[in-house]
Amino acid sequence: DSEAEMVQRPPVVTIMGHVDHGKTSLLDKLRETEVASGEAGGITQHIGAYQVHHGDDTITFLDTPGHAAFTAMRARGARVTDIAVIVVAADDGVKPQTQEAIDHARAADVPIIVAVNKIDKEGADPVRVRTEMATIGLNPADWGGDTEFVDVSAKTGEGLDDLLDTIGVVAEIQELTANADTEASGVVIEARLDQGRGPVATVLIQRGTLEIGDPIVSGPNWGKVRALIDYTGERIEVAGVGDPVLVLGFNSVPSAGDLAMVVDSEKTARTKAEERDTRLKAEAIARRSG
Ligand code: GTP
Ligand code: NA
Ligand code: MG
Repeated sequence: DSEAEMVQRPPVVTIMGHVDHGKTSLLDKLRETEVASGEAGGITQHIGAYQVHHGDDTITFLDTPGHAAFTAMRARGARVTDIAVIVVAADDGVKPQTQEAIDHARAADVPIIVAVNKIDKEGADPVRVRTEMATIGLNPADWGGDTEFVDVSAKTGEGLDDLLDTIGVVAEIQELTANADTEASGVVIEARLDQGRGPVATVLIQRGTLEIGDPIVSGPNWGKVRALIDYTGERIEVAGVGDPVLVLGFNSVPSAGDLAMVVDSEKTARTKAEERDTRLKAEAIARRSG
């Protein structure tokens, strides 16, 4: 559509790697830097995704627990991640889940950046990590290959600026754009039933602009957007392309990996949801009767 208003959007980055290699610590350190440099006062809410601002760049990180969610989304055909950061502990090297994470990223055709973590530790051997990774086909750019490796410490924060720079460079090559001038739609990153607020869903906006009052449908779930909360816990009026946002107002809990989209009216939302519900039930019955 040549009329479409294409805008630049932030890259969406997923962090994967072997158990205890420092994925959560890395995300925490990045977020700490962000919280420290951002507005004070907002209570950080867990919405499964958040953004880091680095120079003029914004980067969206998916804080999903490892590759289970990544795989679930891919199985549903949702292309969510633009870049995979594979974390390898420099004192432990390549492990089975490192290989798994690489396989997932490759299957999804997502560019890989390797974060060699824990370089502050005695016994850290970033060269060994590069050698092991090269053996399984990821040749370090600093050795003339085409995979970027960045040495980092989630403990001291060393190398994190480099990591963000590298993400920025890889994202720029991808020329990530989206149509901002259309009915909003996005992917459900996670969803749950909140005691006080009812069904809440974290949606990563992929097109358009989501606003309070918008009729919305996701699979067999529908509703009207009652409130929007950003990753800092602040209530917002609108969410744009690339923004992760907590959406209140669904009548039931959507599924991670499902598309969420704005439609013209609550009636349409309800009708679409009911059609989907009927289809899902019919499929379930067909499966049971073999
Ligand atoms: P799982 O989610 O369980 O797979 O682990 P993870 O990859 O998220 O690792 P996590 O962040 O839980 O870190 C595991 C341990 O390594 C913790 O004790 C961290 O404090 C420690 N750790 C993580 N990064 C670093 C680092 O850069 N330096 C040092 N010294 N310790 C680190
Ligand atoms: Na851990
Ligand atoms: Mg973790």
